Amino acid sequence: MTKYHLLRHLDIPQLDQLSVYQKNDGFSAFKKAVTKQKPEEIVQTVKESGLRGRGGAGFPTGTKWSYIPDNRWPHYVVANADESEPGTFKDREILESNPFQFLEGLMLTAYAVKANVAYIYLRGEFWEIAQKLDQKIAELKDAGLLGKKIFGTKYELELYTHLGAGAYICGEETALLDSLEGKLGQPRLRPPFPAVQGLFDSPTVINNVETLTNIPNIINHGVQWFRSVGSEQSPGMKIFSLSGNVVNPGNYELPLGTTFRELIYTHGGGIPDGKNIKAIMPAGASSSLIPATEEALDTPMDYEAVQKTLNCPLGSASVIIVDDSINIAWLTERTTDFFKHESCGKCTPCREGTYWMSKLTKRINEGRATQTDIDLLDTVAEQIQGKCLCALGEFSVMAVRSGIEHYRADFETAISADKQGRS
Ligand SMILES: Cc1cc2nc3c(=O)[nH]c(=O)nc-3n(C[C@H](O)[C@H](O)[C@H](O)COP(=O)(O)O)c2cc1C
Repeated sequence: MTKYHLLRHLDIPQLDQLSVYQKNDGFSAFKKAVTKQKPEEIVQTVKESGLRGRGGAGFPTGTKWSYIPDNRWPHYVVANADESEPGTFKDREILESNPFQFLEGLMLTAYAVKANVAYIYLRGEFWEIAQKLDQKIAELKDAGLLGKKIFGTKYELELYTHLGAGAYICGEETALLDSLEGKLGQPRLRPPFPAVQGLFDSPTVINNVETLTNIPNIINHGVQWFRSVGSEQSPGMKIFSLSGNVVNPGNYELPLGTTFRELIYTHGGGIPDGKNIKAIMPAGASSSLIPATEEALDTPMDYEAVQKTLNCPLGSASVIIVDDSINIAWLTERTTDFFKHESCGKCTPCREGTYWMSKLTKRINEGRATQTDIDLLDTVAEQIQGKCLCALGEFSVMAVRSGIEHYRADFETAISADKQGRS
């Protein structure tokens, strides 16, 4: 075993080659499952492992699979490789450097939920990755690992890649399904949930790339092995994408429950140029701005502790570091601009609210605002919360509301500093 469970290519050179992957346990889990285990056993094992979805919501993976009904067919599996959250770049590394472990995880998932077709939905910018995956899928077919009569059994499976067109909303699972069906990518009303009525109205499991990449190890090494790292409710390893004002940005595979301090200072090398840390965004641009107190730095990065201690979801664990040279009003202009651009426009609070938040943050940073505009910005943000079809609207207000709550002085400085500079 290498010290890595997911980024195993860091220990094993050329792991993206089928022969190398096979020499290192590759497809042994898939073979064991298809030839010796019932699909229900795989679902039960993943349930017991406690694996939680790595795409953001942290939903228990095995439980999600168990919702697939046995009285509606066909079943589908979709891998979510949209990875559009600013600050998240972990799935890209897996797809580029350890693609077969991801593909094996997808194949095991398809077997577990009795699907014969699975799709990989990739953001449009990942077109080179999609081409390489197509080649890998062809190699798997040639090797008899895909297609009909896999390992001489009745099980058959086909994999297809599908490129989006670069829309953040298409990472949201129901917008993704519409886009995959050739429609405009906009979220669906729920219920029905995809497990019951998903792709082409059929029962569908949608999982993130990193989630799927965990599956072969769980089948090969077992529940206890998986649970030996991480916490009781958040077991396993996690890839933390670290970026922003930090000496060594990058992907770090660490046990869930590692503290922010260890990630930022031990692995990330601390803050450059002798500056101090001001805020942490634990979940990319969708995140609240957490003041970097001693308590925050010592918080374990798992799904419960981050929510309980910092009142903020861990999300996809894309940790953005903000140093004390950054004005938070400027930062919120960047995030609101992004969400205004990416709002799909289907629901009014998100479409209009992100537009107004973007206008107001610009006005503040250009010195055309008054004190009341800061309160107006907070009110607009508040009116988006809890009123949208999907979480994009919710994400868009996180930096704004927490920014005004914790760093109101920065907004006031932005107004007066720029006014002095201009007139
Ligand atoms: C606006 C928005 C964007 C999202 N983008 C992604 C994404 O790029 N990749 C991803 O895996 N999940 C993304 N999600 C979460 C998915 O809707 C879904 O929860 C996830 O793919 C489920 O997989 P998991 O259970 O393995 O985490 C996004 C959600 C929202 C609301």
